[in-house]
Amino acid sequence: MATPGPPSGTPALPFVGALPVRLQQLRIRGLRCLTDVDAVLGPAINVFVGANGAGKTSVLEAAFLLSHARSFRSGAKEALLQRGATQLSIFAELCHADRRVCRLGLGRAGAGWEAKLDGSGVPLGQLVSECAVVCFEPGSHALIAGAAEERRRYLDWGVFHVEHAFLSCWRRYQRALKQRNSLLRSLSPPGDELFAPWEAELAQAADQIDRQRRAYLDRLRPRLQGSIAGLLPELGAFALRYRRGWSDELDLARQLREQRGRDLARGHTTLGAHRADWSITFEQAPLREHLSRGQEKLTALACLLAQAELYAEHRGEWPIVCLDDLASELDQAHQLAVVTLLRAADAQVLLTGTELPAALQGLPACVFHVEQGRLARLL
Ligand SMILES: Nc1ncnc2c1ncn2[C@@H]1O[C@H](COP(=O)(O)OP(=O)(O)O)[C@@H](O)[C@H]1O
Ligand SMILES: [Mg+2]
Repeated sequence: MATPGPPSGTPALPFVGALPVRLQQLRIRGLRCLTDVDAVLGPAINVFVGANGAGKTSVLEAAFLLSHARSFRSGAKEALLQRGATQLSIFAELCHADRRVCRLGLGRAGAGWEAKLDGSGVPLGQLVSECAVVCFEPGSHALIAGAAEERRRYLDWGVFHVEHAFLSCWRRYQRALKQRNSLLRSLSPPGDELFAPWEAELAQAADQIDRQRRAYLDRLRPRLQGSIAGLLPELGAFALRYRRGWSDELDLARQLREQRGRDLARGHTTLGAHRADWSITFEQAPLREHLSRGQEKLTALACLLAQAELYAEHRGEWPIVCLDDLASELDQAHQLAVVTLLRAADAQVLLTGTELPAALQGLPACVFHVEQGRLARLL
């Protein structure tokens, strides 16, 4: 397929010449208003159009769940399960850039998730490492303006996909953190001999997590340079800052020991990798509060595209990109810029709108009409 150059006046965005991963088939049962949906998707742009509440976002949510095992929408996991249904399941056929096809399954009946790969039960981590989906949606500005947890999730998702050792390290850290927190909440505070081993374990795991997060951000920076220059040239140079969650000068084990009295009063651990954060500031917007809501959204989009590119560079295949309510989130010039970039990268895109966005008029796309939780292919 010929890929057009960016329209005049639209900034050129960078891309990596990696082949994309593609969802060939997506079957969704019992997810919100989607009782039983079976869609054969197109290899490039897929558009889901329909009225408010038709179920468009839920289709994207299904794809995102395969890659994150959580939704991008806030709220309880139980809300995902269709009212009155006892289970929800998502099945997808995924074709990798090397043409390897795998069958992904994710189900929920009761409390936990169950993952399957090519018919066999696998740990959730294995399923989500197989499928990469990034999603820009109406809540994405929270990546810039929201709580640090959003930014840590973004960062850790990226690190997880490029660094095999990350997951086990992160689990070790969570386990030690839980142990220290329960010691902090004991009725009679335990002595040093009980705290010290968990603090040593925390410090060791935190050092590794910190190194991996730092290395990831260093690799992300040049990608971000490109996507920010493309989407927000008016804001000038940007600075990406990272805070690891404890003082740069001192070892975490020592800081935790010194902090014990304060942590005992608070009942939880106030220093460590679980308190890390990062921020982006601009020459023309030195404080986050200087950004308009629209600029926050564009900054978040630049971060997501940079992450997708870095993933493509590392894994040799472009992630699937979901753009929820694109036309209500971005002005036309920016819609066009994003669509142009994604077409140039040849990425598979799942996009929603109440109607076909102007930026897509005349472009080849698979269009689905969504109505009351049912899907019909239009084009
Ligand atoms: N657990 C649930 N069970 C049944 N329906 C639900 C559940 N959660 C949300 N819904 C409904 O599903 C629809 C979801 O719509 P959504 O995918 O957000 O639509 P759109 O993006 O097209 O506006 C809404 O009509 C909502 O009321
Ligand atoms: Mg929606």
